[in-house]
Amino acid sequence: MSHLLLEARNISKSFGAVRALENVSLSLERGEILGLVGDNAAGKSTFLKILAGVHLPDHGELLVEGKKVVLRNPRDARHMGIEMVYQDFMLAPNLDIVANIFLGREVTRWRVFQKLEKKKMKERAAQVLEELGVQFKSLNTLVMNLSGGQQQMVAIARALLYDPKVILMDEPTASLSVRAIEPLLQLVENLKERGCSVNYVSHRLPDVLAIANRIVVLRSGRIVAERKREETNLEEIVYFMMGLDRKEGDA
Ligand SMILES: Nc1ncnc2c1ncn2[C@@H]1O[C@H](COP(=O)(O)OP(=O)(O)O)[C@@H](O)[C@H]1O
Ligand SMILES: [Mg+2]
Repeated sequence: MSHLLLEARNISKSFGAVRALENVSLSLERGEILGLVGDNAAGKSTFLKILAGVHLPDHGELLVEGKKVVLRNPRDARHMGIEMVYQDFMLAPNLDIVANIFLGREVTRWRVFQKLEKKKMKERAAQVLEELGVQFKSLNTLVMNLSGGQQQMVAIARALLYDPKVILMDEPTASLSVRAIEPLLQLVENLKERGCSVNYVSHRLPDVLAIANRIVVLRSGRIVAERKREETNLEEIVYFMMGLDRKEGDA
């Protein structure tokens, strides 16, 4: 069995004339938190979306547990145990917490769940939330009445419904209040403890340095640095993000 859970080899992706990713090779080990950082437009979201089956790469390949896979849509990724928590959560504000946790499941599964008593869905939702250490007064609260931090927890609970191996998180603190950030970071650590690997994208570098085992820096669609957490610091990461490592006259 490969110790690499997920491997991306030589991934390139363009949108028209924009080269979002160029020859990106990156792997995710079991039970690690990989911090992926970079300035705006560096290609972070595009990379996660390729791992989540939202975009197909133009070139390159993906391997899950050593086997080549083609992820044509998020459902394919889910079958491989890969779930993404999107930056904007993708929740339905006018539905309640339980409905949102079960939202967007594949049709057959959804039909199965529709046949189940609502009670069973509620029980499963409560179970996932409890595993996350999150409490709500009522699971029938509409999502529009939740705070940003609470909505984030619902989005994560949805991703955990079928025990994924990999969770992709794109700027998970972007719509959180400052006091909701620490619990979120704790939750990411908990995911790791239960054996999930997390690919964590954020431009809040202190957060990334606090939780990541390894940090990869993207700049203009290319990987410019990869460091173990204990081998780097904030200054060095900023240096790579900004391209200060390049000498005058370099391309
Ligand atoms: N769906 C898309 N269509 C066209 N251009 C896109 C699309 N998604 C991303 N891009 C472009 O690709 C580049 C990388 O974007 P993105 O992956 O979102 O960067 P990041 O998440 O690091 O800010 C940017 O120049 C962005 O404008
Ligand atoms: Mg982004």
